[in-house]
Amino acid sequence: MNDFSNTIINWYEEHKRDLPWRKTKDPFLIWVSEIILQQTRVEQGLDYYQRFVSRFPNVFKLAEAEEDEVLKCWQGLGYYSRARNIHMAAKQIAEIGEFPKTLEDVLNLRGVGEYTAAAICSFAYDMPYAVVDGNVYRVLSRWLGIDRPIDSGEGKRMISEAAKMLLDKNRPALHNQAIMEFGALQCTKNNPNCMFCPLIDCCIAYKKGLVETLPVKQHKTKTSNRYYNYIFVRMGEETVIHKRIADDIWKNLYEFPMIETDRAVSEEEFYSLPQLHNMISSNDKPVFKLVQKGVKHVLSHRIIYANFYEVNLPEDSESFKNYHKIKINDIHKFAVSRLINQFLSLTL
Ligand code: ADE
Repeated sequence: MNDFSNTIINWYEEHKRDLPWRKTKDPFLIWVSEIILQQTRVEQGLDYYQRFVSRFPNVFKLAEAEEDEVLKCWQGLGYYSRARNIHMAAKQIAEIGEFPKTLEDVLNLRGVGEYTAAAICSFAYDMPYAVVDGNVYRVLSRWLGIDRPIDSGEGKRMISEAAKMLLDKNRPALHNQAIMEFGALQCTKNNPNCMFCPLIDCCIAYKKGLVETLPVKQHKTKTSNRYYNYIFVRMGEETVIHKRIADDIWKNLYEFPMIETDRAVSEEEFYSLPQLHNMISSNDKPVFKLVQKGVKHVLSHRIIYANFYEVNLPEDSESFKNYHKIKINDIHKFAVSRLINQFLSLTL
């Protein structure tokens, strides 16, 4: 008899959301859903999941696709390494011929860590592995009154030991869904519903008035400011883009010519940047127009401040010749960041 598990499973049966990945045992579909949900809320992830699995209904279809198309499907979701990794892992699986069947083999897939492996193995194969995600950290640190930081080795160990002990090994899939849903809907970060909580009688954080303070994190996420100056080029019906290769953000997505500066630069300073002059042919005397200034784009570890310049050049211009020329009307075929997409929707 495991009171904790019975309680959250009963709560789950009554309150759970109706979500498509909970109605399947197909490890491929579960894998896709878990990768999408790693850094994305259910409400946002749902549409992406539906679109992704209708375009790539099995691992072989995903393995056959071009990376550009996979990234296009992911456009707007962020954390694009997830899309690149799931595509690479699909190729690995397609080569072997079937989805891995053990925790160890699932863990070997690119982009799959302990949480995702436990989720796939418990949901798809009913293996007794306890999931430990942000929801589980919150629920267990509160219920057990654990005040060791959850981003310390000791805190992580304590929570994951507790999660293992509390797991209902006869119903691991149900138990894991229940504890995550409980964290997502009931024991939430900011407004936990303690007044109507089935665990209130034995919740240590509640007893000690620590619900607001738990879980404890020792390190705040550091963010850095970045300053991007984009150039939207019009050469008649065409523009220029390139695939971003830098391995920081938006790797392999497309973007306009861009000059990064170490601080916000004024229009005058921008026009005198040597990088800009290197992009322009000596035959051209372009006139730039600053069309959007200081657009703030917040990511998990970075705040981007973007300026967008527009410039008209002759159709046969030699400027920006290392870039990829495309019809402006075709830009929607390329995966771009949400920042670029917002610019385009205001401009075109
Ligand atoms: N977040 C991560 N995995 C989830 C799942 N299976 N259902 C709902 N939210 C989740």
